[in-house]
Amino acid sequence: NQTTASTNERLLSICSLLEQQIPHYNWVGFYFKNGDKNELKLGPYVGAPTDHTIIPFGKGICGQVAVSNKNFVVPDVSAQDNYIACSINVKAEIVIPLFVNGENIGQIDIDSNTADPFTAEDERFLEFVCEEVAMMLA
Ligand code: SME
Repeated sequence: NQTTASTNERLLSICSLLEQQIPHYNWVGFYFKNGDKNELKLGPYVGAPTDHTIIPFGKGICGQVAVSNKNFVVPDVSAQDNYIACSINVKAEIVIPLFVNGENIGQIDIDSNTADPFTAEDERFLEFVCEEVAMMLA
């Protein structure tokens, strides 16, 4: 009905809220595992459009989190060999995996235009956001 937002609308609202409320969050998006393929597919996001709508497992920060199942905090993207650049303005990145029933089904990806901005507090907060999203998707 008209009062019930779809899942994608809710995910987009979360991206928008995070990007607007937290100054060092400049691109906020969700990637999800793409069916049976060994790749991630871009879901709802807020920020500059990216060419990287499909990311193979293992490639870039996002692709590495798809296989490691672990948070990946990058204080300086220029120091990473396995990194996919989306914008020259980006200085740092954080990726937190999203688990539904114990399975890594995707991730939240945040880029920052500020150098070394992410703390343990960001990790705990974004893990909480991912848990809430997981409950919505379960
Ligand atoms: N930088 C990411 C690619 C996705 S963009 O940040 C939107 C990576 O290295 O996986």
